[in-house]
Amino acid sequence: MATWSAPGKVFLFGEHAVVYGKHGVAMAIRPRVYVTVRKARRMSEVKSPYLEECFRQMGVQGSLYIRSQLPSSSGLGSSAAVTVATLSAINDEFGLSHSREEISTIAYEIEKKVQRGRASPTDTYVSSFGGLILMGASSKRRLPPPGLPLVIGNTGISHNTARMVEMVADFKRTHPEIVVPLLDAIEGTTKRALHSLNNPRELGWLMNVNHSLLEALGVGHPVLARLVLAARAAGAFGAKLTGAGGGGCMVALCPSRLRSRVAGAIKACDASPLITTIDTEGTRKEKDV
Ligand code: PMV
Repeated sequence: MATWSAPGKVFLFGEHAVVYGKHGVAMAIRPRVYVTVRKARRMSEVKSPYLEECFRQMGVQGSLYIRSQLPSSSGLGSSAAVTVATLSAINDEFGLSHSREEISTIAYEIEKKVQRGRASPTDTYVSSFGGLILMGASSKRRLPPPGLPLVIGNTGISHNTARMVEMVADFKRTHPEIVVPLLDAIEGTTKRALHSLNNPRELGWLMNVNHSLLEALGVGHPVLARLVLAARAAGAFGAKLTGAGGGGCMVALCPSRLRSRVAGAIKACDASPLITTIDTEGTRKEKDV
């Protein structure tokens, strides 16, 4: 029996733009998914296509038990975390000796297959390695981990990443003269943020700009807008939707002393707040349950 866990993630900058090869910054966050895998003669019944693919790709059969602190379909990378933790646990239980890099690559292939090609490697890479990652068209760079106090607000409205990505693709096809500059400007916020990682006030302002650009792309939602404004009014340095949008979560960067106040403001809007910060470990072995 082997138990492994993997963290969720938030996009601090650059979602949607990364789909077009632009840079983005994503951060692994504390809530985790825990997966226990045990060798078995017969495959236990798994309902998720991600899990089926994990066993298929690794060429083994087993049973598994999942415990998740991450809400699904909310933009916090829960499917990637489940996939990475499951592959890591299979790797350990069956002594397959895949490296973390290989686990991350296999996890990305699985996400791509299940999501019919519509996935960037961001979620699976960040969940595998943890930390703050600058994603580029063909590169990934680990950035020095800043102590960024974050409050996430979950609208509870589930979103469909593939549909949101497709919507932006349609918008780009019909209105390239609007969408191309928007994607460039989103990457502009990412690039400016790289110079401001130790300046939360500036970072927060850049998150606000990124949020407005995402709204212009058409991936906002009235409830996300309400939470973003409530977080800013409660003293956050800045706030934006995170992930595909159209529901899911927003993220606020806060002064440490105001985290509870920002969380309270999110709760007062009937959404679920989550106070969190960076996870620097990525996937890790746990004591067996
Ligand atoms: O909502 P999520 O966690 O699936 O994030 C989607 C982010 C996109 O940039 C829209 C797509 C991607 O695969 O990077």
